[in-house]
Amino acid sequence: MKFFIDTANLSDIQEAADLGILDGVTTNPSLMAKEGISGDQAVKDHYVKICELVDGDVSAEVISTDFEGIVQEGEVLAQLAPNIVVKVPMIRDGVKALRHFYDHGIRTNCTLVFSPGQAILAAKAGATYLSPFIGRIDDITWDGMSLIREIAEIYAIQGYETEILAASIRSSKHIVESAKSGADVITAPLKPILGLLNHPLTDIGLAKFLADHKKANA
Ligand code: G3P
Repeated sequence: MKFFIDTANLSDIQEAADLGILDGVTTNPSLMAKEGISGDQAVKDHYVKICELVDGDVSAEVISTDFEGIVQEGEVLAQLAPNIVVKVPMIRDGVKALRHFYDHGIRTNCTLVFSPGQAILAAKAGATYLSPFIGRIDDITWDGMSLIREIAEIYAIQGYETEILAASIRSSKHIVESAKSGADVITAPLKPILGLLNHPLTDIGLAKFLADHKKANA
């Protein structure tokens, strides 16, 4: 399973990259706004900076919601760096654009996916990645992880090549459950990724090893 970080924060991206486990980055307009990035050129410059930090795919989201606009924006984004993946919303014109990008060799991430039907459409249209939003489904007391399992089953039966990118991950447990449920990729903020490190028995065990070593070498 690949690990992407879900942020536009350069120091978080650097920290995850330094850990040696980072395969890519996902962003969205909310995450860009959170970093105070606004204006067309500033957004593009920020994507270029992210692409330089990471040896892996970087999802850059379009703002347009009509076919022509999505295509025009996506083509500009794709030219910023070879590792840009154009993030396209799961709407009618988005599906059309996914097919257009596929036919023109531009890789895509279909975002805002909440149902197996949407997942089938995106795969049919040739999306490179599919982003089901686990946390937002849990937020309304449905089961985000069961959507990942359903999509994984459908994609396996149908032989679809689109990669399932579990998104809207809120906890380390979400990451572990995504791995069990058949996600090809997870994207998460830094905190749930680093949370995977933690176990009290590791801390207790390490403290004991170090104390014993100190005693033996006193
Ligand atoms: O990758 C999508 C993600 O950024 C959405 O996460 O926590 O806003 O639902 P969240």
